[in-house]
Amino acid sequence: MTSFININKSEKKEVISRHIYGHFAEHLGRCVYEGIWVGEDSPIPNTRGIRNDVVEALKKLNIPNLRWPGGCFADEYHWKDGIGPRESRPSIINNNWGKVTENNHFGTHEFLDLCEQLDTEPYICGNVGSGTVQEMQEWIEYITQEGKSPMADLRRKNGRDKPWKLKYFGIGNENWGCGGKMRVEYYADLYRRYQTFVRDYTDTPIYKIACGPSEADYHWTEVMMREGVSRTEPYPDKVVTDIWEHHRPEMDGLALHFYTRNRANYDSATEFTEEKWFDYMKRTLVMEELIQKHTAIMDKYDPEKNVDLIVDEWGTWFKVERGTNPGFLYQQNTLRDALVAGINLNIFNNHCDRVHMANVAQMVNVLQAVILTEGEKMILTPTYHVFEMYKVHQDATLLPVSVSTGTYTYGEESVPMLNVSASQDDSGKVHISICNLDPNKGEKITCNLDEITGSSKASGRILTADDMTVHNTFEAPENIKPDVFNEFEVEDGKITFTIPSKSVLVIEIQ
Ligand code: AHR
Repeated sequence: MTSFININKSEKKEVISRHIYGHFAEHLGRCVYEGIWVGEDSPIPNTRGIRNDVVEALKKLNIPNLRWPGGCFADEYHWKDGIGPRESRPSIINNNWGKVTENNHFGTHEFLDLCEQLDTEPYICGNVGSGTVQEMQEWIEYITQEGKSPMADLRRKNGRDKPWKLKYFGIGNENWGCGGKMRVEYYADLYRRYQTFVRDYTDTPIYKIACGPSEADYHWTEVMMREGVSRTEPYPDKVVTDIWEHHRPEMDGLALHFYTRNRANYDSATEFTEEKWFDYMKRTLVMEELIQKHTAIMDKYDPEKNVDLIVDEWGTWFKVERGTNPGFLYQQNTLRDALVAGINLNIFNNHCDRVHMANVAQMVNVLQAVILTEGEKMILTPTYHVFEMYKVHQDATLLPVSVSTGTYTYGEESVPMLNVSASQDDSGKVHISICNLDPNKGEKITCNLDEITGSSKASGRILTADDMTVHNTFEAPENIKPDVFNEFEVEDGKITFTIPSKSVLVIEIQ
């Protein structure tokens, strides 16, 4: 059987925000400490305490933004603990993640240094659960205020004269759970209050991100959309209107969290059969339904799409690796994770009219990490390779696709065999990313695109392996990595090829 991917360039419209390719680094397990921060005195090569190998590898992904310091950690984090001379910073308990001691050596300056080294935009998550409004206001002032002020002076005293650029700011994290176990009706009011004091000290207004729903909590989205956006309403009195700085929404983004996991019984990341391969493909595709349904609610209150959907935590969540601290969420990463990443990124691309940002959880050594470290060693995971292959979609124009494909059936259940997205970059190159979910069957695909001529050039890169559990280890770091894929037949208006089973393929046509 042949599957068809039809690309209609006349329908091309939305731009795929590069921020869909964002990352997340929490003070959790060995993500920040060891994975990123080793300290200036470490034998591991570092720049001002930040490990060079990790930065170098991450730079190849063109990371557009990095979310920090949590996660659950954010709603217990008091930022003033993490500034000033390191030896005088207080040690605290990381209550959410293993109750280990956190020495606060990685704080605001170190995080923003990391962002500068990565050339990425910071996305900071503030503390609503246990922090004060004043604390949140002062953090923004500390980071962004140029002139003289108590917080700008404190920043200078701590060695940084110029303010940093900060656009993305989250008003709490999972406030329905670890961030305070709030009802949405209560959080919505708190959100309105806290965000009022998140001031703009520069010409770049702070982009305010509200805590959004967990998975399919549509009531949360309904209430936040009803209560969270109010400044778009006209004010009756012109003078009053002018006093308010802008007519822009008080909420720029609403953050959805959805993990691909089996909460009833966390599964192994590496030891699985086809049953669990299929199960995780099916669980990942739920993201499509969640985005469609949350978007429908957002459309009702905000048809002009002023408020973005931000998926700032997504990824697989497995049982921790044997012998590791259960509170550290350290897991391996196989070809199955690569498929999960490829499918999610395709879904976000295809919904880029509403999805402005997404952040994989997490960047190093935690959950679906792109990098794993062990002492001075570092390996790249299959998920890393997907991010590297898909970076061609960043800021490209979405080309809507219609896919006619068979199904991948396991037992009584089926999912579509192929998952696809496509885009065109500024230089005119078309990129098509295709995931074949079926671990047993390759598939012949004809891709129809009017613009293709007999002289069009096609090239591709593929991530696949014979074994669905394949993963990189510190002993064998290149068990799985992208390969060249060049088996195309190019004719006027179409290109034909056979995608291997269980693979992620990115094609370039020019
Ligand atoms: O990413 C791990 C945790 O998952 C985050 O801290 C929290 O926001 C979510 O529940």
